[in-house]
Amino acid sequence: MSILEVEHISKYFGKTEVLKDICFTLEENQVLSIIGSSGSGKTTLLRCLNFLERPDSGLIRVAGNVVYDSDMMKNMSESVIRKNRLHFGLVFQSFNLFPQYTAIENVMLARQLQAKKEPDYKKNKAAINEGIRKEAEDLLNRMGLSERMNNYPHQLSGGQCQRVAIARALALKPDILCFDEPTSALDPELTGEVLKVIKGLAEQKMTMIIVTHEMSFARDVSDQVIFMDDGYVLEYGTPDEVFGNPKMERTRQFLGNYN
Ligand SMILES: Nc1ncnc2c1ncn2[C@@H]1O[C@H](COP(=O)(O)OP(=O)(O)OP(=O)(O)O)[C@@H](O)[C@H]1O
Ligand SMILES: [Mg+2]
Repeated sequence: MSILEVEHISKYFGKTEVLKDICFTLEENQVLSIIGSSGSGKTTLLRCLNFLERPDSGLIRVAGNVVYDSDMMKNMSESVIRKNRLHFGLVFQSFNLFPQYTAIENVMLARQLQAKKEPDYKKNKAAINEGIRKEAEDLLNRMGLSERMNNYPHQLSGGQCQRVAIARALALKPDILCFDEPTSALDPELTGEVLKVIKGLAEQKMTMIIVTHEMSFARDVSDQVIFMDDGYVLEYGTPDEVFGNPKMERTRQFLGNYN
């Protein structure tokens, strides 16, 4: 069974259809890259998966369970949506760290908010918070940030901020981690360190969807690649198929800009 099944998603902004009948699947432990020109709908698709946008039609299943069905959405409560959202983590281009919190506090925050809602929180507060801190430390160590835990975002480089943002997304243990152009706000040197971390996650078999303009990285790290154009999935296959032998003229034209 695929970890993620996306069926016939469409999304309108006003009268403009920006996602058109999007269908794909993703297997557990695999990496899917999404490439395509500006405005083709890549961010909107990730936002739909993370329930930041509601598709106008279509169906999303995670591990066989329906987490979004446009026909049923009217009856879906906020608490169900919040729960379903936890299947996905999202790392943004611009990090979106809280400036008033340190690196480790940024990583701990979402887990702490979650824990506070658990029934036995008051009784075991100290132990639970200690566990959350320990997990955050482990994650920041994995991201190569053991020396930076108590720094505020303004004291960190862009690449370091992005690695904190990745640790923060991992803290909630998502089934699928999504990245929206994680390196496009970074200069080349810092891009390399973030791509290395993402490659490390792929080697540790994290299931990921990566929107990127880094074509050689996408080719190297992905199991599947989607090329989006004008709201459509125009090409969908292995890196060798999409990069090495694209079916559509439009894909060839797009890839030509990167050679
Ligand atoms: N909230 C919104 N309201 C109206 N239109 C929007 C909104 N968000 C996105 N769009 C439009 O939807 C289309 C797809 O945008 P999207 O941001 O998904 O593209 P993208 O592929 O991520 O582009 P880029 O590579 O520049 O990030 C664009 O035409 C955009 O102008
Ligand atoms: Mg985008």
